[in-house]
Amino acid sequence: MSFTIAIDGPAAAGKGTISKAVAAHFEFAHLDTGLLYRAVGAKTLDGTDPIEAARKLVAEDLDADNLRTPDVAQAASRVAVIADVRAALVDFQRAFARRVGGAVLDGRDIGTVICPNAEAKLFVTASAEVRAKRRFLELDGKGLDVSQEQVLADVKERDARDMGRAEAPLKPAEDAVIVDTSDLTIEAAVASAIKAITQLRENA
Ligand code: CDP
Ligand code: CDP
Repeated sequence: MSFTIAIDGPAAAGKGTISKAVAAHFEFAHLDTGLLYRAVGAKTLDGTDPIEAARKLVAEDLDADNLRTPDVAQAASRVAVIADVRAALVDFQRAFARRVGGAVLDGRDIGTVICPNAEAKLFVTASAEVRAKRRFLELDGKGLDVSQEQVLADVKERDARDMGRAEAPLKPAEDAVIVDTSDLTIEAAVASAIKAITQLRENA
């Protein structure tokens, strides 16, 4: 039997952290769909056409360590507005979601467009300031030369582009459970996500 958990939300809200913990708890597979757009965005920085890059994407392109930079994040959100880029990535995501044994997908449009029938949907969010601080600490810890002000400006620019685009804009699905992590520790955020999903599983 398949069971799909859709986890959407803005940049650095805690989607990835929560998704990994939820996947481990339920023993489900996890796909960070942001990496697909980051991989396409990274190729465009080398001059590759984004639609071509999306159509030719392979597993080896999804190297998380090299893709988690501010430049690639911006490039990802720029290619993510292109309808043909999104279309090229749909089948892979839907096939992953139908995995026997269950799947967690995190991104922007999982509960609204990719898996509108997902059994559990969460919308993970937090204030832009809290998210920028978290992302700054992460990038600073990796030795990247960034300021908290610049990270906040980047996060706000990406949020506006992701929410304002015509194709699959970032917004909570009507039936999503909202998890605001602004004042939550990672442990508390994970616990609240697991509790909400457990209730949905019992009622499924
Ligand atoms: O996947 P997404 O961009 O939404 O966020 P993430 O990579 O899971 O989390 C961004 C950063 O915030 C990570 O360094 C997490 O450890 C941290 N975080 C936190 O401090 N408190 C939370 N409740 C959730 C995440
Ligand atoms: O980790 P963070 O939340 O900062 O970003 P990400 O999840 O890696 O996504 C990078 C960019 O890819 C986002 O700003 C979106 O523009 C795009 N994206 C998307 O459009 N749809 C998805 N399902 C996932 C990501």
